[in-house]
Amino acid sequence: MTKITFLGHACFLVEAEGKETLLFDPFLKENPLAPRQPEQIKTDYILVTHAHFDHLGETYEIAAANEATIISTPEITTVAQEKGLNAHPLNVGGKFDFPFGWVKATPALHSAGIAGGTPCGFVIHYHGQNIYFPGDTGLFSDMKLIGELTPPDLALLPIGDNYTMGIDDAVVAASFLKAPLIIPYHYNTWPLIAADPQEFKKKVEEKTDSQCQILAPGASCSF
Ligand code: NI
Ligand code: MN
Repeated sequence: MTKITFLGHACFLVEAEGKETLLFDPFLKENPLAPRQPEQIKTDYILVTHAHFDHLGETYEIAAANEATIISTPEITTVAQEKGLNAHPLNVGGKFDFPFGWVKATPALHSAGIAGGTPCGFVIHYHGQNIYFPGDTGLFSDMKLIGELTPPDLALLPIGDNYTMGIDDAVVAASFLKAPLIIPYHYNTWPLIAADPQEFKKKVEEKTDSQCQILAPGASCSF
């Protein structure tokens, strides 16, 4: 059993008893809905999809406090290494084996927030289960390929629109990915990305075979 906890916006914590803990896109201090602050986080790895402030967030301070390894694109890991932090560079299409399983960097239709960089998503093979975390992205049809090559047991999907997919495109993404479980993120942090997760859940469950679990910030589920 893997437990996933939503820490607001695009931040998730993935853990299993006696196993490594993974943290995704930690944006806590400036997030009005964050259920925890950086000093309350314990993690072994931090996966960062791009350098926008609402994703890079407190990556460096949490990595330093936990001696955690940052997994991200080379432009971000170079900055991390210059700060003396542990970091593993991964670029789009590449996959690497870690002690908990592999991580593959996937394309994301977005901007990088750092000079010369590219945004990414990740498929994480964590102790036998695949989690797809797309980062910030618009809908793209190669999500079908992600669903075929690395079938997710859990797909996290942004639904807030404006900067990423909105609800209707995220429903199409769910139909491409065919994950048994979908969890929405990147909504309601600010008025600009207001979205109704109940509407998303209803549409996903009507139009696809996936189940949708809505997590309030601080809430967890197991899969
Ligand atoms: Ni972004
Ligand atoms: Mn964002």
